[in-house]
Amino acid sequence: MCGIVGYFGKRNASEILVDGLRRMEYRGYDSAGIACLYDGEIGVVKCPGKIKGLREKVDASGLGVLAASTLGIGHTRWATHGPPNEINAHPHMDASGHFVMVHNGIIENYKEIRKGLSQQGIECISDTDSEALIQLIAYCYKDNLEKAVSEALKKVKGTYGIVVLTDHEPDKLVTARCGSPIVLGLGKDETLVASDAAAIIPHTRDAVYLEDFDMAVITADGVTMFDLQHAPVNRETTTMDWDEGAAEKGDYKHFMLKEMFEQPDAIRNAIRGRLDFDMGTAVLSGLEFSPRDSALISRVLVVGCGTSMHAGMVGEYAFEEMAGIPAEVEQAAEFRYRNPIITPHDLVVAISQSGETADTLAAVREAKHKGATVAGICNVVGSTIARETGRGVYLHAGPEIGVASTKAFTCQVSVMLMMALKIARTRRMPRHEGEEMCRWIERLPELVEKVLEQNDAIKAVAEKYAKCENAFFIGRGYLFPVALEGALKLKEISYVHAEGYHAAELKHGPIALLQENTPVVALLNDIPGKDKTLGNAEECKARNAPVIAVVSEGDEEIADEFNDVIVIPNCPPSITPIPTVVALQLLSYHIAAARGCEIDQPRNLAKSVTVE
Ligand code: F6R
Repeated sequence: MCGIVGYFGKRNASEILVDGLRRMEYRGYDSAGIACLYDGEIGVVKCPGKIKGLREKVDASGLGVLAASTLGIGHTRWATHGPPNEINAHPHMDASGHFVMVHNGIIENYKEIRKGLSQQGIECISDTDSEALIQLIAYCYKDNLEKAVSEALKKVKGTYGIVVLTDHEPDKLVTARCGSPIVLGLGKDETLVASDAAAIIPHTRDAVYLEDFDMAVITADGVTMFDLQHAPVNRETTTMDWDEGAAEKGDYKHFMLKEMFEQPDAIRNAIRGRLDFDMGTAVLSGLEFSPRDSALISRVLVVGCGTSMHAGMVGEYAFEEMAGIPAEVEQAAEFRYRNPIITPHDLVVAISQSGETADTLAAVREAKHKGATVAGICNVVGSTIARETGRGVYLHAGPEIGVASTKAFTCQVSVMLMMALKIARTRRMPRHEGEEMCRWIERLPELVEKVLEQNDAIKAVAEKYAKCENAFFIGRGYLFPVALEGALKLKEISYVHAEGYHAAELKHGPIALLQENTPVVALLNDIPGKDKTLGNAEECKARNAPVIAVVSEGDEEIADEFNDVIVIPNCPPSITPIPTVVALQLLSYHIAAARGCEIDQPRNLAKSVTVE
């Protein structure tokens, strides 16, 4: 949510900044801008819209500063305060024109700060909360940028990841973080700073992740890190193992399409080396409990948002069914504010692809504070949730760039199944059942491949319904969260109003909305309760709603009763969410494509939601 980047080195800064913003565009794409410093002059170019527009504006600007500078900052915005116009775009400059800053996060007390500045005769010109901060930094400046930044930050309430430069001190950039991620890239004769690794990876693999209340001074020769009181801090340098090409679209039309087709490999990576067929269990090295500790877990609480929360709901069924352990899933924002009851025997599992979602992170902190054992399931290595939970399981799904989450979901569910299996085996699950489960988990990539092979057929179904304005997804048991996820995918990328319901719930109100142009996607796979869902699908049909039946192989005769059919390979109930959701991802993708939507960057959205 907002991407920031900074560069200090020997190469042309503006090119590196614009390319870095392009790679982080999934974090926000309302407006963008860069500022570079050369020979005592600061050149700023910014515009509403996407990075493509910024690139054209930079090229057309003819600014000598941009052509010559080897030092600068950039920003791609997801608007919080004020519409995405040029004046609200970052970088923001102070009234004197000597200081510029890019900011990711929210300055909650910005009105108070603006009022104080106004009393000193300093007026902000944009609607943003961010501008108040750079005006405050300039106001605090005496002769040292990092001192001015720390002084200003001590007056700030809220979250920030910032990079600041001033023409008074052209030998440095200053960065700081609280609640919004900052990663430093240590290259040869150059240093980068960014919101995430995507902007850094083409230039260096050596990265340092700042922690909350850390600051750093960046020069071409490296970084010096300290806290807001200027006491030195030491943060480990890690080697990022991302394949640079993994963050490019390649021959695919969209990242989402690429990422859906990457799912067999992503799941292979998520389960590799983690299945122990001899003992019929899972080996999750980041989550080693002794059998005794495992036996002491009295409840599993899963927290997450959006798609990650839906993955957690599948996990809830698996923990209860396989391990016989009470499990609950909670929207992370609700968990953090509602004063949940947590005991030392609770295991709280935080699920987050990005590892940066503000509400999930706050839920982690709340759970830790209340004494729970906390584990993370994250994709981004070194992300804040991964670090703060200190234990957990990485997905190894590779970078997910499409704003609509796909491969992260199927890997999250794969990991939840392994987690449930691991705990189940230390409790009530017999070895032969564990072995059987291992075999099914191992087959997941192949099951997903079988669904992906139906891409053309699913596209044909999608095109029939591309003009609908409303849609419903119904399922029960393990397929209830899949219905929710199917609806979320459709609404976010195609703007079709879609609702996911428990199949039994439809008749308690929502059925009133059904009409002949309201398709219902009925998840009729062979799981307990299938016959009941079949009855619910018939009820929809009786109200003239077209029904797209998702059925298990061999159950095709159900299809004769309904308008369209998508066939999912046979597998046990706990496994079926994964191949089934892939079919729904494809359906949503093709509906969105037929409607001409911007699939990778849907309106109003951003990946990695670092504000509440
Ligand atoms: C939907 C989607 C979002 C995310 C949610 C949580 O396709 O991507 O609903 O799942 O914002 O993000 P993470 O998993 O990064 O915490």
